[in-house]
Amino acid sequence: MEKVNVLTHPLLQHKLTILRDETTGVKEFREIVSEVATLMCYEATRNLPVEAIEVQTPVGQAVGYAIAGKKLAIVPILRAGLGMVDGILTLVPSAKVGHVGLFRDPETLQPVEYYCKLPQDIAERDVIILDPMLATGGSAVAAIDLIKRHGVKNIKLMNILAAPEGIHEVCSKHPDVEIYCAAVDEKLNDHGYIVPGLGDAGDRIFGTK
Ligand code: PRP
Ligand code: URA
Repeated sequence: MEKVNVLTHPLLQHKLTILRDETTGVKEFREIVSEVATLMCYEATRNLPVEAIEVQTPVGQAVGYAIAGKKLAIVPILRAGLGMVDGILTLVPSAKVGHVGLFRDPETLQPVEYYCKLPQDIAERDVIILDPMLATGGSAVAAIDLIKRHGVKNIKLMNILAAPEGIHEVCSKHPDVEIYCAAVDEKLNDHGYIVPGLGDAGDRIFGTK
């Protein structure tokens, strides 16, 4: 069974629609990608383990809860995943950040790795991979392969938009990886773009087109 969480919160859906709109400019696009990442982070961290702790309030003793278990690392896939980093750190400021650089060869649609820098203790952490777009799934599978080779056991994949083809590819190669996205679109076009999608996420975040 595919482990896909489609997050339908009204705020997320509202912001996703602004991202899809071709008239949305670079400043607003970048800000909203970050906001969407924050909202998705709230959902993707819903099942983090907690432990009970006692604190002294100004009035008495209270039992509260603190996040327990393994620490988190986030790994954006360059470039477009960078746009989601600050939004996650808003909620999890102590997460360490690794970077994986991959671009899709426009002819073959195969991912090409050009950079990798991960926290030294990544094997002791749970990891959330960030990339706004899950299209053929090639980039996500390559990033997951690489991170698993560094000893990571628990990986989540956070995408703003996903295509059925990409979900299927990730779930068949890495059935243990849970996917979080705000929508699953209809299909890919002949150039591997998500339809209707939102266009080229990297270009829209960085204003390169
Ligand atoms: C985009 C996107 C994903 C990848 C998805 O990156 O950000 O990383 O394509 O496609 P896939 O699922 O078919 O692999 P791109 O290669 O355009 O690089 P960029 O982020 O530098 O623009
Ligand atoms: N990468 C993007 O940025 N957009 C798509 O639709 C597919 C891959």
